[in-house]
Amino acid sequence: MRFILWTAIFVWRAHAIETIPDTYAPRFVDCPPDLEIVRQVAGLSKAEADWVRGRKAVAADAFGAYLERLNLSDFDVKNYTKWVQRNTAENMPTLGFANSGGGSRAAFSGIGGLRTFDSQLSAAVRQKTGGLLQSLTYYAGLSGGAWPPSSYAFHNYPAIDDLVAKWHVEINRFTATNDSEYAATSKTYFEEIYPKFEAGFNVSASDFFGRGFGYWMLPGEQGGLNLTWSSITELSKFKNYSGPFPILQANSLNKSSLVEEGLYAPLETSDIYEWNPFEFGSWDVGFTPTKYVGTVPDSQGKLQKCVVNLDSASFVMGSAAAAWNYWWIAIASNGTLGNFAKRGVSAATLNKRQSGYSLETLEGLNEAFNQTFNLSLSQIANPSVPNPFGGDENITLADGSEAGQSIPFWSLIQRERKLDLIIAWDDDGGETRPNYWTNGTNVWNTYNLAKAAGLAFPQAPPPETFLARNYALKPVLFGCNSSLTTTGDSTSPIVLHLTNAPYSWYSNFSWPTQNMSWTEFHGVMVNSFDFVTQGNGTLDSEWVQCIGCAAIDRSLERMGTKRTEQCERCFANHCWDGTTSELSKDFVLDPSLQLNLSLGFVEWNKTHPFSGGVITD
Ligand SMILES: *[C@@H]1O[C@H](CO)[C@@H](O)[C@H](O)[C@H]1NC(C)=O
Ligand SMILES: *[C@@H]1O[C@H](CO)[C@@H](O)[C@H](O)[C@H]1NC(C)=O
Ligand SMILES: *[C@@H]1O[C@H](CO)[C@@H](O)[C@H](O)[C@H]1NC(C)=O
Ligand SMILES: *[C@@H]1O[C@H](CO)[C@@H](O)[C@H](O)[C@H]1NC(C)=O
Ligand SMILES: *[C@@H]1O[C@H](CO)[C@@H](O)[C@H](O)[C@H]1NC(C)=O
Ligand SMILES: *[C@@H]1O[C@H](CO)[C@@H](O)[C@H](O)[C@H]1NC(C)=O
Ligand SMILES: *[C@@H]1O[C@H](CO)[C@@H](O)[C@H](O)[C@H]1NC(C)=O
Ligand SMILES: *[C@@H]1O[C@H](CO)[C@@H](O)[C@H](O)[C@H]1NC(C)=O
Ligand SMILES: *[C@@H]1O[C@H](CO)[C@@H](O)[C@H](O)[C@H]1NC(C)=O
Ligand SMILES: *[C@@H]1O[C@H](CO)[C@@H](O)[C@H](O)[C@H]1NC(C)=O
Ligand SMILES: *[C@@H]1O[C@H](CO)[C@@H](O)[C@H](O)[C@H]1NC(C)=O
Ligand SMILES: *[C@@H]1O[C@H](CO)[C@@H](O)[C@H](O)[C@H]1NC(C)=O
Repeated sequence: MRFILWTAIFVWRAHAIETIPDTYAPRFVDCPPDLEIVRQVAGLSKAEADWVRGRKAVAADAFGAYLERLNLSDFDVKNYTKWVQRNTAENMPTLGFANSGGGSRAAFSGIGGLRTFDSQLSAAVRQKTGGLLQSLTYYAGLSGGAWPPSSYAFHNYPAIDDLVAKWHVEINRFTATNDSEYAATSKTYFEEIYPKFEAGFNVSASDFFGRGFGYWMLPGEQGGLNLTWSSITELSKFKNYSGPFPILQANSLNKSSLVEEGLYAPLETSDIYEWNPFEFGSWDVGFTPTKYVGTVPDSQGKLQKCVVNLDSASFVMGSAAAAWNYWWIAIASNGTLGNFAKRGVSAATLNKRQSGYSLETLEGLNEAFNQTFNLSLSQIANPSVPNPFGGDENITLADGSEAGQSIPFWSLIQRERKLDLIIAWDDDGGETRPNYWTNGTNVWNTYNLAKAAGLAFPQAPPPETFLARNYALKPVLFGCNSSLTTTGDSTSPIVLHLTNAPYSWYSNFSWPTQNMSWTEFHGVMVNSFDFVTQGNGTLDSEWVQCIGCAAIDRSLERMGTKRTEQCERCFANHCWDGTTSELSKDFVLDPSLQLNLSLGFVEWNKTHPFSGGVITD
């Protein structure tokens, strides 16, 4: 694990709290009459079901235009769109995009992938990928991957290029020496979260980091300080269904979780929670209205007062990226514990303990919380919110990538959401040493857990096969053939697995990177674009049509129409066939640029010094 870039922030001591803005504090209000504070798990909320119906009607127009441009061979687009339009709620395919965790690396490479599907980007329209973004119903994220869907919604669904311009990637949000529109000092972050503590609610490292993410990714004054997650429902383009439904996913901790170095760590099977604009909760325990998170019925089951404003947008972003416990555990155990699914702690990192990268560096934040709030390490390690679902424990959240599933599939594969295609962006910071590219661990883990839970999901290859088939370096489809799924039928979505791989740029920068030059960011954007379009078709002239084939395939089955020959050919070339391969013992994933095979990393690196962080750990 790489803490290097975080060290700069752990330099403060106690802060005297001076100005106290109250916009971040939760408030008690009278409950609206007939408020249902707990909804048992049974289908979608009415609000989501209604919204999805509206969204499908708008998405169907975009999807029709996308398919017209795509010009699939021997496919009668007019007849298909006529069928879709006849009943968009039932016939329009349900398409989702899932952005994995992996810090800013996953956020940047992932938004680069998404950008390739934006009909507002002329290059994307030229490559015939543009328009799929406008056809999505869901956009899920966790950890660093939770920031783009949040940012996209709160900015009211702009063109992706306009959105990322607002991120000011050159600014580090955790080293500011003065307050500005784009970043503030740690002292200010503490002042901003103080009123929540004063109001009697738990504050944690997630509130603190969330403030930085807010200045980075949210619109409005003081890094979107007064925005709430539920206020997404009031944005004009959410109201008229012009963009996808954002979902953030997190794992949970409770008293039966593992205890490591005095802190809790999630089990692989711990309950998975989600934040969506209407509800917060879990498919295991139930849902509560996002706007009233924090509200708990009294012992008679009656609501006395309701809590609002606990769903602060930046807190929600921080709570979906709550990995402080893991950073601590990993360092405190010298890397023997607290390893993310895909990232270990290398000897090199640990040896740096002697040169300043020690427990002390994390202790800086711990001490600041101790002295400002008199809170202990275990109290600030993870965010918690009052529990309306019963039991005597608060709901405590942890970063989803701590529990082995760093791609937020779980929320999307609940059968009630009926996904037909999930475009998965997998960039958890790299599990294959020594160069930190992807090895498919996340999709493999979800497959195994979905199978155990009886959820429909494509069969996925183990990491050895994933690497042997070169899926770390090219797109691949899972579950095209519905027999290759956990349920053996077409209730499973198809998964289009996309990842961060070097096509035109070495984009394996370390996940805690806080900032980089615009030139570097642009390199990352174009690299993701080159991956998704396979070098604008230079590596495979039919690939972009395959993406379209994957998007329509499940609906063709419902329509009673056969796959075209072109789609059959695409699937034969790009879907995993369910068979495994051996990986040679001396395999090392050390790719050259896929669009310039003669350019290895060492040579490239000489002319591309990295401004924002380090490439290896
Ligand atoms: C669509 O594809 C066909 C070949 O399948 C080609 O003849 C035609 O020119 C294409 N149309 C457009 C608008 O690209
Ligand atoms: C046209 O659509 C109908 C469903 O509305 C379907 O049954 C038929 O197979 C389609 N025809 C072609 C040529 O795709
Ligand atoms: C404020 O901080 C920014 C960087 O975050 C820096 O460029 C600027 O010079 C600082 N201004 C003052 C007055 O210190
Ligand atoms: C839950 O959190 C609230 C503050 O948000 C706190 O007052 C309460 O003591 C906590 N309860 C438990 C059981 O941890
Ligand atoms: C947040 O603040 C902005 C201006 O600072 C204001 O226009 C907006 O109404 C506020 N929103 C809420 C929900 O208080
Ligand atoms: C939705 O609202 C936005 C902002 O008001 C507007 O620009 C857009 O045209 C509307 N879209 C639809 C599909 O009505
Ligand atoms: C894949 O990544 C995981 C997580 O880092 C690691 O445990 C495993 O050994 C890797 N497998 C291969 C084949 O690289
Ligand atoms: C920590 O781990 C590294 C590498 O595994 C090892 O070299 C070092 O001796 C360990 N240090 C301690 C204090 O255990
Ligand atoms: C705060 O730090 C002091 C000094 O290390 C320690 O004695 C005290 O127990 C800490 N407070 C809490 C609440 O952990
Ligand atoms: C929330 O705060 C209360 C009161 O300080 C504390 O007892 C409880 O342990 C906290 N909950 C968590 C999960 O830290
Ligand atoms: C593909 O097109 C994009 C957008 O125009 C461009 O930035 C990129 O360099 C192109 N890549 C190749 C391999 O032509
Ligand atoms: C990459 O370049 C940096 C200097 O910009 C250097 O410190 C580093 O060792 C280089 N890495 C490799 C593998 O060549």
